[in-house]
Amino acid sequence: MTPSIEAAVVPLQERHVRAVARIERRVFSDPWSESLVRAELDNALSRWFVLERGEDVLGYVAVMNIAGEVHVTNVAVAPEYRRRGLARRLLGRAVEYARAAGAFCMTLEVRETNAPAIALYRSFGFVPVGLRPRYYHDPEENALLMTLLLSEEDA
Ligand SMILES: CC(C)(COP(=O)(O)OP(=O)(O)OC[C@H]1O[C@@H](n2cnc3c(N)ncnc32)[C@H](O)[C@@H]1OP(=O)(O)O)[C@@H](O)C(=O)NCCC(=O)NCCS
Repeated sequence: MTPSIEAAVVPLQERHVRAVARIERRVFSDPWSESLVRAELDNALSRWFVLERGEDVLGYVAVMNIAGEVHVTNVAVAPEYRRRGLARRLLGRAVEYARAAGAFCMTLEVRETNAPAIALYRSFGFVPVGLRPRYYHDPEENALLMTLLLSEEDA
């Protein structure tokens, strides 16, 4: 079994911005730029949580809280650290944040062929609720819209 990784989940800070943008460029065809990530530090609606180990950033999750609905805007784990439960920790932190903020649901879009991410979201109870045709570019693809209802009984 692959050993688990010791890393802390902490709020995004300036010291993480370059490393986050570096992972963005490695992972996505339409990456968030360094300046866009930095601007998130001052966005009152956004929260980013970063997995840091020493000076390294291993992954991150970002959410945006709009009127009681917490939208997951980004999740990524550096390729060499995958399948070790890190995204599960990050998403767990995002769900914890949403509950603490009193949100009634979480939503997200995901490429309909992104099987790893869809499996991750399903394991948290997110269910598909719709499709946004040709939502993504490079390559063009539909987005699956997924929702997780948060209720006190589930907490
Ligand atoms: C999706 C992603 C964040 C998963 O990160 P990860 O740290 O490898 O995920 P975890 O190890 O925490 O896995 C949690 C669960 O997700 C699912 N999962 C993750 N990778 C998977 C894969 N390659 N195939 C199938 N299921 C997978 C499994 O259900 C897994 O649970 P299990 O290991 O008990 O089976 C990672 O693959 C990634 O960064 N992908 C590129 C960015 C991306 O697509 N982000 C989502 C945008 S919507």
